[in-house]
Amino acid sequence: MPLKNKVYLLLTTISGLEDVLIEEISELYGNTIEILESRRGWIIASIDSNSPSTLIDNLIASSRSLERIYTILFRTKLEIDCIKTAIESTSIHSMFTPYTKFAIKLDKEKYVDVDSYQLVRILGDLVCNTIEKRKGYRPIVSLDNPDIEIYCKVFNRELIFAFDITGPKALHFREWRVYLHPSTLNAIIAYAMARLSKAKTATRVLDPMCGSGTILIETGLAYSKPMLYGMDINIRHVEGTLENIRRAGLESRCTLKVGDALSIREYFDLSFDRIITNPPYGIRELSYCRTLYELYEGFMKSALEVLTGNGYITLITPRRRLMKSILRKFKLKVVKRKDLEHGGIRATIFVLTSY
Ligand SMILES: C[S@@+](CC[C@H](N)C(=O)[O-])C[C@H]1O[C@@H](n2cnc3c(N)ncnc32)[C@H](O)[C@@H]1O
Repeated sequence: MPLKNKVYLLLTTISGLEDVLIEEISELYGNTIEILESRRGWIIASIDSNSPSTLIDNLIASSRSLERIYTILFRTKLEIDCIKTAIESTSIHSMFTPYTKFAIKLDKEKYVDVDSYQLVRILGDLVCNTIEKRKGYRPIVSLDNPDIEIYCKVFNRELIFAFDITGPKALHFREWRVYLHPSTLNAIIAYAMARLSKAKTATRVLDPMCGSGTILIETGLAYSKPMLYGMDINIRHVEGTLENIRRAGLESRCTLKVGDALSIREYFDLSFDRIITNPPYGIRELSYCRTLYELYEGFMKSALEVLTGNGYITLITPRRRLMKSILRKFKLKVVKRKDLEHGGIRATIFVLTSY
């Protein structure tokens, strides 16, 4: 890196879901986007520089597992001389006027033993010196309201120097979300759950603890085939799901009920080939159950009663020890398992079958 006729991109997702992002991109763009490197939570890809902006706009509009997108200016060793030479060899000065305000956003992997404050100061100085040398003035640093945000990723003993081109909001913010649940699942995770469950080929997908409907909506927007069924014990959340479903334009494919996930059969006289859900993680969120074990055990028993012979049950939880006893009790087979890190919580997606 860099070759002249290529644009290099740094693409981020939820830590642990890099494979999902790579699969999705390959499915959408084939060889047009070449994946060069995959790390936890981010990947590096290259595209042909003939029409990069159309492709990038397209990627932003169509990917469901992408969180942010950056164009890479350079990648170098984490040494001041190397960084200085690299910055001076770019045409970064062409982006600055005497009034342009900029900020450095440092994203350092936890294990790298460097003083972040010092490093940001050094990087800022190197940018200012380069602009001053080329243009005769020093640019303005503004952390609150920059015109240009320079993103610096530090990992191992390397630095990637890039620009955030995602736009004002991270891409997990979805237009359809008008009702916000207090424990909303990140939409990227919901999409990943649908993808890992192979919901594309499913006929009926049920989320019996649907909250605000994130899993149903992400499944429905990604895949046109399955009919969507949702349930929650709290009527307010069912009404909220309906608002979100309408906003997403999925009402003709969706049936919602107020009901208990511990007795799904009472509410739906149907079988489902995918049951995908995000149960409560903690005691605080429980309704009618005394313990979390009681909820997970009751849900699993009830889900297995309505699951088709070759169906999958997919759930996300940080309660791995509890899941171990559930898997043993119901003799479930783990088809796939993904460990994620998000918002300070380490959760696991389990895709399960009973055959
Ligand atoms: C973690 S939240 C789901 C959030 C949802 N994935 C979203 O993105 O909005 C868990 C949901 O399970 C519901 N719930 C708890 N016990 C239930 C039960 N026995 N039957 C049905 N729903 C239940 C809660 O009301 C809550 O909305």
